[in-house]
Amino acid sequence: MTDRYAVIGNPIAHSKSPVIHAEFARQTGQDISYERILAPVDGFRAAVDTFRAEGGQGLSVTLPFKLEACAYATQLSDRAQAAGAVNQLKFEGTDAFGDNTDGAGLVRDLQSNQRVHLAGRRILLVGAGGAAQGAIVPLLECRPAVLVVANRTAAKAHALATRFAPRGPIRAATFEELDSRFDVILNATAASIGGECPPLPEAVYEDCSLAYEMMYGRGQTLFMEQALAAGAARVADGLGMLVEQAAEAFELWRGVRPETAPVLALLRSQL
Ligand code: ATR
Repeated sequence: MTDRYAVIGNPIAHSKSPVIHAEFARQTGQDISYERILAPVDGFRAAVDTFRAEGGQGLSVTLPFKLEACAYATQLSDRAQAAGAVNQLKFEGTDAFGDNTDGAGLVRDLQSNQRVHLAGRRILLVGAGGAAQGAIVPLLECRPAVLVVANRTAAKAHALATRFAPRGPIRAATFEELDSRFDVILNATAASIGGECPPLPEAVYEDCSLAYEMMYGRGQTLFMEQALAAGAARVADGLGMLVEQAAEAFELWRGVRPETAPVLALLRSQL
């Protein structure tokens, strides 16, 4: 019997996850189906229960349900616990295992696809919302020289730095306080959605080998344009992160690791 998986969110029509997982399944010869579930904003738990009752084996979880998925899970991975959010659920009997593959997907895209070394480097993480929080532990596990979290609302960056200090060399800063250079700069803010850019001092980009936008789309965001203009050697968007976090999920569910490069190329051609 075909094993059932799905992505659940609201809205969900735009999700590329069905295309990605269909490609992974074809490539690895796995007999799975993967659909989209639009759950009412107040109906996450009921929709998941229905999917499980119908034999569903795993779910990808997207906005706005990543916190509710964390509460729904009966067991959490260390990285889901650290992120405070779940983007993948795996069901086994009455158990619901919650994982968060976003940060691992980011690190894999940076290191394997973008070929950037993170160990010993100075990393600037811009933003202190859910996307930033999920990236912190996987980034610290790469042993950077320092991870600086800068955010428009300073208190949020300080809270993250305090919380994750036991995990590695993390510091908080306001945008104005940034007076040094960084090897890798990651935009985890939502600024690009509104066509805006976090107001970083130009000097941060002078030795920057990669400025990375965690969102993706056709063309460059203002953050990417400004990074290049201010001296960043290269920019990338988060399409690779999307594909890599899905590959982590596929491995969690199916025990095999798919090739991501052809799927990334396919998605890029469809943007
Ligand atoms: P997500 O889950 O995508 O991280 P979020 O939790 O709402 O979304 O967090 C959004 C992040 O983008 C926050 O760090 C926010 O800064 P504040 O904490 O000061 O609100 C940041 N952000 C959103 N719009 C921004 C803008 N125009 N300039 C700079 N930062 C912005």
